[in-house]
Amino acid sequence: MDLLQAMHERHSVRVYDNTPIDDVITAALKRLITTFNAESGLHMQLLTNEPKAFSGIKARYGKFRNVRNYIALIGRKGPDLGELCGYYGEQLVLEAQTLGLKTCWVGGTYKKVPKVLSVDNGEKLVAVIAVGYSNEDGTQHTNREFNEVSKTIGAMPEWYVKGVEAALLAPTAINQQKFVFELIDDEKVRATTALGPFSTVDLGIAKYHFELGSGKDDTIWTD
Ligand SMILES: Cc1cc2nc3c(=O)[nH]c(=O)nc-3n(C[C@H](O)[C@H](O)[C@H](O)COP(=O)(O)O)c2cc1C
Repeated sequence: MDLLQAMHERHSVRVYDNTPIDDVITAALKRLITTFNAESGLHMQLLTNEPKAFSGIKARYGKFRNVRNYIALIGRKGPDLGELCGYYGEQLVLEAQTLGLKTCWVGGTYKKVPKVLSVDNGEKLVAVIAVGYSNEDGTQHTNREFNEVSKTIGAMPEWYVKGVEAALLAPTAINQQKFVFELIDDEKVRATTALGPFSTVDLGIAKYHFELGSGKDDTIWTD
């Protein structure tokens, strides 16, 4: 399975098996995290066999069961932190899907377990991603209309259409899909978001999906 296929097959899964993540898969995830941390400056961490974060009332309220592994998205506080977590966290989500794992982004319905995380001075835990084996696949979320998330009027290149369609597959907090794309010229796209809980994280996720769907890299973005 490649990342594009993973993007189509990924849905949030909240109920997991008790099976621990295989050592080879754990090592592969840790290698990816090390690479992405080096590239982004983030301090993301994989916690395995740690059931406490999803053992309380919040997790039950969020309908989570048997979450024993998660990726903590941590980084230096600053205006770009949310978007960076979204952009790199979603790469981990899709890589995990190709490795046979299921995931769910979680911003609210978990408990912070300080002793198991390494959060340095000036850093912040933004969100976590539950990860593990499950026989559930989740379901396709309802999408906004193309024109609700694209401000471009008139003719659009195919790569742009594919990018926006890919962004519509992105997970967003409470499925809010508040991101908006606009084609500036043949080579540049502007991505912005309306306000909402975790909307900057969502924007980073949606931008990664756009890149994957359009076949463009991050030089496509303009302010
Ligand atoms: C930043 C972010 C935070 C989220 N927080 C939670 C959460 O606290 N609890 C929860 O059950 N789902 C949470 N979700 C999952 C969304 O509800 C889910 O992605 C959305 O409904 C779309 O469904 P899909 O992921 O299956 O496409 C979060 C998603 C994102 C991107």
